[in-house]
Formats: sequence, C-alpha cells, structure tokens
Amino acid sequence: MNERIIIKGGTELKGEVSIGGAKNAVLKLMAASLLLNDTCEIHNVPELTDVMTMIEVINHLGVKTEYKPHDKTLKIDATNITTYEACYELVSKMRASFIVLGALLGRCKEARVALPGGCAIGERRIDFHIKGLEALGATVKIEGGYVIAKAAKLVGAEIYLDRPSVGATENLMLAAVLAEGSTIINNAAQEPEIVDLANFINAIGGDVSGAGTSEIVINGVKPKNLHSTTYTTMPDRIEAGTYMAAAVATKGHVIIKNVFPNHLSAVISKLSDMGANIVILDPFTIEVSCNARPKAIDVVTQPYPGFPTDLQSPIMSILSISKGISIVTESIYENRFRHVGELRRMGADVQQEGNHAIIKGVKYLTGTQVKASDLRAGAALIVASLCAHGISEIDNLSHIDRGYETLVEKLGGLGAIIKRVPGDTSNTEVNTQNSNELIN
Ligand code: EPZ
Repeated sequence: MNERIIIKGGTELKGEVSIGGAKNAVLKLMAASLLLNDTCEIHNVPELTDVMTMIEVINHLGVKTEYKPHDKTLKIDATNITTYEACYELVSKMRASFIVLGALLGRCKEARVALPGGCAIGERRIDFHIKGLEALGATVKIEGGYVIAKAAKLVGAEIYLDRPSVGATENLMLAAVLAEGSTIINNAAQEPEIVDLANFINAIGGDVSGAGTSEIVINGVKPKNLHSTTYTTMPDRIEAGTYMAAAVATKGHVIIKNVFPNHLSAVISKLSDMGANIVILDPFTIEVSCNARPKAIDVVTQPYPGFPTDLQSPIMSILSISKGISIVTESIYENRFRHVGELRRMGADVQQEGNHAIIKGVKYLTGTQVKASDLRAGAALIVASLCAHGISEIDNLSHIDRGYETLVEKLGGLGAIIKRVPGDTSNTEVNTQNSNELIN
C-alpha cells in the first residue's frame, strides 16, 4: 500500500530515543552465518525491510530462520545449504545481498549470485570483489547477469584494495575464513561494521585480526573449528546520526541511547562546529542540544573514520537553514545529491557543481510534498520537514523503511508532530487539505 508521512514542522525535539541494531552490520552477520554448519542466534536485529529481504535470501539457500520482533532475536540454522544460487529477484530487491557471494564460495566452493548492478546513488562496481576472490584462487566469470565463482580450494593471499570498499572487504573476509593459510587485506575498509563482522567470525571460531585498521589478517580455519554462537549486533551509527541531525535542525535537546559515541567522532565534530552542544554522558549515551541557528560549515564525505556518506544528506538539511555558505563534497558516490532537488522545493538554496553542493543557508524551509529517492535522501527530507515551517508530506516510504525502524514512533516520542497515513501525494491540492486535517 502506498503510504506517506505527514509532518508539521517547527517543534523542538526533546526527550530520549533508543537506537536499534545496525542494518549495515546485521546483514553481513547473516551472510557470515552461512559459513556455519550449525545454528547461531543474533540479538539486536532491527525489524527493517532490508533485514526481511536478507532473511528471504538465506531461506532461499536452504537456511532455516526464526525472527522474533519483540525481542529482536534472529535464530539461524545453516546446517543445510541446498543451493549456492542467489537469484536476481532477491538481489535486485537489495544489492547488499551480494555479500552472500564470499560466504557461499567459502562454504560450498561454488556460488552463483545475481549481479546487483548500479542503483539510484551510483554505479557501485564490484571489480575489487572479483579481483580479490581471484587472488584467493577462485575462477570468476559473469554470465547471464550472474557472478559465477568456483574454486577447488581457496588459498590465502595478500590482497590490496584500490580503495577501502566496505563490501569488498567483507566479501573477501568471508571467503577467507575457510581458506587454506592466511589472507591479508591491505587498504581494507575500517568501518565499525567491519569490526562487528570480524567479531562475529571470531565468535563462531574463525581467526580474524586487525579489523578496524587498514590491514586485516584472516587465518584460515577448518570447517570443524566453526561452532554455534550467540552474538549482539552493534548499534546503528547512521540511525543515531540522523536523530542527532534532527535534534540540531529543530534546536532541540535529545538524549541518544544505546549508541557507541566513538563511532560518531566525525559527526560529533561537525555538529559541534555548527554550534551544537554535544556531551557524551556515558559510553552508550550522547546528549545533543542546540539553542541557536546553526552555523555554516564545509563537509567532505570519506571512508571511516571520515564523515560518513550515509549522513551527507541529513546534514545538508541542517546546512540549508544554517547561517552562511556551506560546501558539501560527496567523494564516495557519483550520484548522491538526489535530495537536492527536493530540498530546493522546500526553499533551500543549493547549487550543485559536480560532486560539490554549495548551500546558502536560508532562514527557514517551508513544508511541501516531497519524494524520497533513496534511503538517506528520505532521512534528509524527514530532518528538513521537522524544522520546516508548515506541513510536509513525504512519499516513497519504502526507501525509508529499509533503514529506519519505527521512525514515526521514535520521532513522535520526541514531540514531533508526525503521522503515517495511507495514500500518495498525486493530488496535491486535496492532499494538502487532508494533511492539515490529518495532522491536527
Ligand atoms: C556500504 O556499501 C553500505 N551498504 C552503504 O550504505 C555505505 O554508503 C557504503 O558502504 C560506504 O560507507 C551496506 O553496508 C549494505 P563500498 P558498499 O563498497 O559496501 C566503489 C546506506 O544508505 N567500489 O565501500 O556497497 C563503489 O562504486 C548504504 O545504508 C568500486 O569501485 O560500499 C562506491 O562508489 C548505501 N569497486 C565506493 O567504492 C568495488 O569493487 C564505495 O563502495 C567496490 C566499490
């Protein structure tokens, strides 16, 4: 059913919000479970459409799963893998499912995974994945839209990544767990989600060290060394950063719970430069407040520990109403400015030049109908709507549902005037009138 979110902007967000498990970590833990001829139990699994898609993907491979939304627990039994093929229908729903390639190859010595292709935010190539798997001894070919990888045996190797790709680092780590000998990944991604994956692999009996640095070493183990485990997913730093942005944009005062503040150092630094007061209350809690109009700053997205591309769009929403001129440079994806047109519809003054966006802060944005073009563009529109004058309607919620669990409830709990209602925004006039009635 087509639904939309209606927000009456201008309320200062106040209160506490609890962050869920990290989408971009748990999807990889689920892929790692394929290595295990046994069961495992993952805790802190958020109820997101991407997680449900990954459940479908591994079920299709013969894996049994049981997800309990009330306690966020996912039981996985990968004792029997009945096929090593992840079909296009599922991979095209969520390109992250491509991550099963490394684990399937490691476990079954053969994998056929649909090629994910590009997406709304960029070309998203997989050349580093393929080159790395070949270095481990696999033959890899692309045929009929599938990546087909085979190896009589995988043998550890030294692999250099031309850039620290998150997905390539993860796929290669997974393929190397059961390889013969040691694999070294140089210029590896250092994201906290990589550390979570390494911790999970070690918890099931693998041998990974150096995760979180640019050199990861995976010493291959025998399948019989892998065993069952219970593991808790790390908190979602991007969800946390989005609520921090919403707090600053609305000049609110929000306590963010169940978060690892050190994962957000770049974000804390940039929001502080904008004039926000940020206090680490304890190792799991951040207090964010802002009592004046934010200041303009420049932001460049970079691999971790740099400023995350996944928070580029929400931060741009704040910069749209900040005092002065800001420059945002997107250095990870070719096409991650699709929120710009929608922010302009809300009155933002943003000019795009290549991978730079020049933002002249306006005093306020005004609510209107907008469409989310991808997950984080959707998050940006939510942040913009929360601080805009008047009513906004956000359409294309399927993107937002991929990565933000109970968003309306969480923002409502912070005092936002927000509702999720059926219907789309195709009839502008009628919907504007309806929105007023629905939100009041
Ligand atoms: C992960 O994507 C995340 N997705 C993304 O989150 C995140 O934006 C990204 O890492 C960067 O932090 C998941 O974890 C599921 P990459 P991933 O491989 O692994 C190029 C969100 O909103 N590249 O680091 O696909 C590629 O084209 C999302 O939650 C190659 O050229 O990211 C891209 O421009 C979206 N060749 C850049 O590197 C390759 O072989 C970064 O990609 C691989 C990547």
